[in-house]
Amino acid sequence: MSVMHDYQEIRDLVAKFTDSEVAPLGAQIDREGKIPESLVKMLGENGFLGSYVPEEYGGAGMDYTSYSIIVEEISRGCASTGVLISAHTSLCIYPILAYGNEEQKKKFLPKLASGEHIGCFCLSEPNAGSDAGSLTTFAEDKGDYYEITGTKNFITNGKEANIAIVFAKTTKTDNYKGISVFIVDTSAEGFEVMKCEDKLGIRGSSTAQIALDKVKVPKENLLGVYQKGFSIAMGTLDGGRIGIASQALGIAEAAFKYALRYSNERVQFGKPLSNLQAIQFMLADMSTKIAASRLLIFESSQLKDKGLPYSKQSAHAKLFASESAMWITTKAIQICGGNGYTKEYPVERFFRDAKITEIYEGTSEIQRIVIATSELKEIQ
Ligand code: CAA
Repeated sequence: MSVMHDYQEIRDLVAKFTDSEVAPLGAQIDREGKIPESLVKMLGENGFLGSYVPEEYGGAGMDYTSYSIIVEEISRGCASTGVLISAHTSLCIYPILAYGNEEQKKKFLPKLASGEHIGCFCLSEPNAGSDAGSLTTFAEDKGDYYEITGTKNFITNGKEANIAIVFAKTTKTDNYKGISVFIVDTSAEGFEVMKCEDKLGIRGSSTAQIALDKVKVPKENLLGVYQKGFSIAMGTLDGGRIGIASQALGIAEAAFKYALRYSNERVQFGKPLSNLQAIQFMLADMSTKIAASRLLIFESSQLKDKGLPYSKQSAHAKLFASESAMWITTKAIQICGGNGYTKEYPVERFFRDAKITEIYEGTSEIQRIVIATSELKEIQ
């Protein structure tokens, strides 16, 4: 626990920011389906959009564990804002940092780190979700540039993004081989946001369908090794899953704290609900799942920070934290009863926001595949 305690300062700082600037806007962001630009600006000014970027590229120079704490604490106030940070950092900044060359880092990271630019990750397609390797977007080699054509689905930050990490085949195959990755300027001709999804939860976060019609991408924007794009996607998602686990944890904490206070104030049968053992048991299980989620997230982010393998551990964290968040938010509504089911109380929003954490960046079933495959490999 002492190692975890080293991060208390960053946690306190972000918690203060969340309590004053984010949580008061959570319901409004959900209702209006939009994160105010002023809030995004503040995230940038506080270094929360470039936490993991080294100072030499304009970032705050923190580690991945600090970044995961930022996502957790911000998500406690607003899950939409939490995933804006997570997709921007884990899925756009990280692959440039991990797989980019020096010129790409110098060119793209400073504006992403300051929040002047927002990033997104374009992997999924209408017919390629969990089976990401079957994507059909194609990048044609035109000599001194590539021309990319295809459709991307469910792109978090898709509406706001200035920079997109785009996965496209550079050889016609029906499997994952032949995928390459490109850093794409979303203002390029032919890059178009077709629609934004009307969703159950995280309603302030844009989830866009994007069409690419002969988008010209300079050769120097190829990211990482040609045709090794699937490994880049998987390596990036390993880290992204820590971000989503942290988002789930933040949502779960918000729901738990609300239900805890409610149970202590709400009087039925002449005493607070919290005096009833049935309620105490729910609170105890909620608290335990939160503590376990935090430890799994901490373990995976610490392994990542130390440069050790963490693929299985990030899947553990995402699987457990997201399923716990769904369970905890369900119980939070149960504790708040009829009140909890109404929009006057925030727990129904937490419940709606929690569901997506079991789906994006790899469903719970995909996490189980990653974990089981990894365990089986270890005994071979
Ligand atoms: N890191 C690096 N490379 C990896 C890897 C990892 N963790 N896991 C696998 N690979 C590599 C393998 O080494 C192999 O490469 P080589 O052939 O070069 O050796 C290649 O990837 C294929 O490996 P597998 O055979 O294990 O892969 P698979 O085809 O069986 O698929 C899978 C595995 C786990 C099911 C994978 O397809 C997967 O994770 N699917 C889910 C996709 C996903 O999470 N989508 C989320 C979309 S993003 C999102 O949600 C966006 C948003 O905006 C929030």
